[in-house]
Amino acid sequence: MKKVTIRTFARMHARDEKVVMVTAYDATMARILDDAGVDAILVGDSLGMVVQGHDSTLPVTLEQVAYHSAAVSRGTRRAHVVADLPFMTYQASVDEAVKNAGRLIVDGRAEAVKLEGGSEYHSVISKIVRAGIPVMGHLGLTPQSVHKLGGYTVQGKTDDQVEELMADAKAIEDAGAYALVLECVPADVADCITKALSIPTIGIGAGAGCGGQVLVCYDFLGLKPDFAPRFLKRYVDGYTTLKSAAEAYVSEVRSRAFPTSEHSFHRAVEGAGDENSDGERVSTTAAPAGRSGESH
Ligand code: KIV
Repeated sequence: MKKVTIRTFARMHARDEKVVMVTAYDATMARILDDAGVDAILVGDSLGMVVQGHDSTLPVTLEQVAYHSAAVSRGTRRAHVVADLPFMTYQASVDEAVKNAGRLIVDGRAEAVKLEGGSEYHSVISKIVRAGIPVMGHLGLTPQSVHKLGGYTVQGKTDDQVEELMADAKAIEDAGAYALVLECVPADVADCITKALSIPTIGIGAGAGCGGQVLVCYDFLGLKPDFAPRFLKRYVDGYTTLKSAAEAYVSEVRSRAFPTSEHSFHRAVEGAGDENSDGERVSTTAAPAGRSGESH
């Protein structure tokens, strides 16, 4: 199985093949998504909202992204793993940005980092790239700037905003980024930006013209019934499916229908052989079968 790298991104873009990216935050989910054939897994700072229960991405720390990124990496065999640089880990100085990007590669086992913002981050991006770390840009609705933007709203609606977005996109490409996320911008604007760049754009709420698409895994798996933005398509009603399974478990434990003899260990009966002598695994967990090859 060939690992997806930034060279694969470039090749796919040259062949007009769509890049498929999703977020994940743990090894088990990463394994499912990797087996499904996604090209890239983003350990997004959206983890602050969908995993930690915050109402923004702002409280997420570098250590937390590194922790989740390492878990995702261990569950991944083929997909390219990208880790988000959290709020205030790259804004204050170029040196700090390079060091923090390096932590996500070393501690987080990521293969690239993503950061939000435009031309003001040209020197940050180019220095991180020169340090040997691929950078993915992120424009449009940039959640780390939620207070500056005044909310989670569509960006690039006026001519001035479109001009600024285009200049930022070109600056990010010029700085050496290998891909650019466009979040919540009108489809025709994303289309124009995509056509003006030589690197792939990866859209979320940015229409079909982008070079690829990204969605938060809990969103497209329908685990959050109250979150229904226009750009989201749910591929399964995960909330109802998982809740029904949990209800069945609750009911069966209470009614004593579970566990049965089949789910129980038994001592060997003399002369009948030892049921557990075949080395049956009794751990409650299984190894993630990722590229680390660790086992319990
Ligand atoms: O943090 C995140 O999950 C993201 C994606 C929505 C692009 O930045």
